[in-house]
Amino acid sequence: MNNTIGVFFGSRSPEHDVSIITAQLIISGLKGLEYNVVPVYITKQGKWMLGEGLDNLKQFTEDGKKIDEQKNLSEYFLDMEESFGKLVFKKKGLMGKSVEIDLAFPAFHGSYGEDGTIQGMFEMLGVPYVGCNVPASAIAMDKAFTKQIMLASGIPTTKFVVFEKQDWETNREIETQRIRELAWPVFVKPVHLGSSIGIGKARDEKELQQKVEVAFYYDNKVLVEEAVNEIMDVTCCVIGNETLTASLLQESLYNKDMFDFDEKYLKDGGAQTGNAQNSLVIPARLDEQATTAIQDCAKQVYKALGCSGIARVDFLFDKQSKKFFANEVNPLPGTLYHHLWKASGLEFPELLRKLISFAEEKAKEKKEINYTFESSLLTSLKGSKIKSTKLN
Ligand SMILES: Nc1ncnc2c1ncn2[C@@H]1O[C@H](COP(=O)(O)OP(=O)(O)O)[C@@H](O)[C@H]1O
Ligand SMILES: [Mg+2]
Repeated sequence: MNNTIGVFFGSRSPEHDVSIITAQLIISGLKGLEYNVVPVYITKQGKWMLGEGLDNLKQFTEDGKKIDEQKNLSEYFLDMEESFGKLVFKKKGLMGKSVEIDLAFPAFHGSYGEDGTIQGMFEMLGVPYVGCNVPASAIAMDKAFTKQIMLASGIPTTKFVVFEKQDWETNREIETQRIRELAWPVFVKPVHLGSSIGIGKARDEKELQQKVEVAFYYDNKVLVEEAVNEIMDVTCCVIGNETLTASLLQESLYNKDMFDFDEKYLKDGGAQTGNAQNSLVIPARLDEQATTAIQDCAKQVYKALGCSGIARVDFLFDKQSKKFFANEVNPLPGTLYHHLWKASGLEFPELLRKLISFAEEKAKEKKEINYTFESSLLTSLKGSKIKSTKLN
């Protein structure tokens, strides 16, 4: 049904580079299937580029060359007049060549792409797209909203306190008092970032003040939560719309205080990209009962947030008490976590096919919803003037 798939990636996000890696993989995977693939790269400044070579990692690693100045690439804009049910991009300039896309495959991580912003554009233009919708993506991008939904849904998550920069500046003592009531040590996190950027562990109030300052350097909303001391980082991917499939559990190993940026992406090629085999244990070393409980909980989290297509749900497992806590949701897991799906018996081409069919299914469902409502509201007002209320 949808022949040309646009793979969207890059964008204004600290996780821009990770997105390039995810996109390369998706593009080459889709090319192996029956689809025409159009890579759409959004630069760090927000320019939309199309052209030859975007499916080659080399394009992004050539020293000293600015990507938006390369001859094989051109800046395009979205033609709003022609884009409905499809996306029509036109090349900037007089003889603007146009490129049409039937289905969008976002491959972004973090801000301006994984957070519901571009999903909103696809919705407005009636274009089917892979992955989570606007509210699920937006909630998942805020660690505090995610935990609030988990709490309201009876899903175990660590105890936490959340506040904004303004609260911290004006009511620091009140906020600190709320934090004192948590069990220490605590973890301090900017709510909107990923990849462990800006996250710190505080063992006393002096450290707390420092870590909160660091977190506010990156965000205007900060979360402070109880630490899980004998921690095992466990993750579970889920796919589907109505009927859900959970992957095996992955355990991530690291030597520091937490699973940080280096361990996630740099050391041995990165655990979060599935390259650092020494840092991954699949399936996680948990008994059957804990494994099933976490897989079921991952599906529960997915449903509670209203996810669709794919998402990854991360857990903190306490090795001492054997309790687990749902931690966060990634609506677009790096490289789609293909290594975990492979280990779970789902090969990459099949994963891509499924994600596309979930996107088509969602688009079809939406077509069946009636968005119009006939009312006599306007005719009943005929002749009368709408006045603004005078304020005293
Ligand atoms: N409450 C906690 N107790 C113990 N370790 C934690 C806690 N919260 C986070 N961590 C550690 O910090 C890492 C990063 O935190 P996380 O909430 O997953 O943020 P990110 O979005 O950056 O991945 C986790 O993978 C885990 O190793
Ligand atoms: Mg995490």
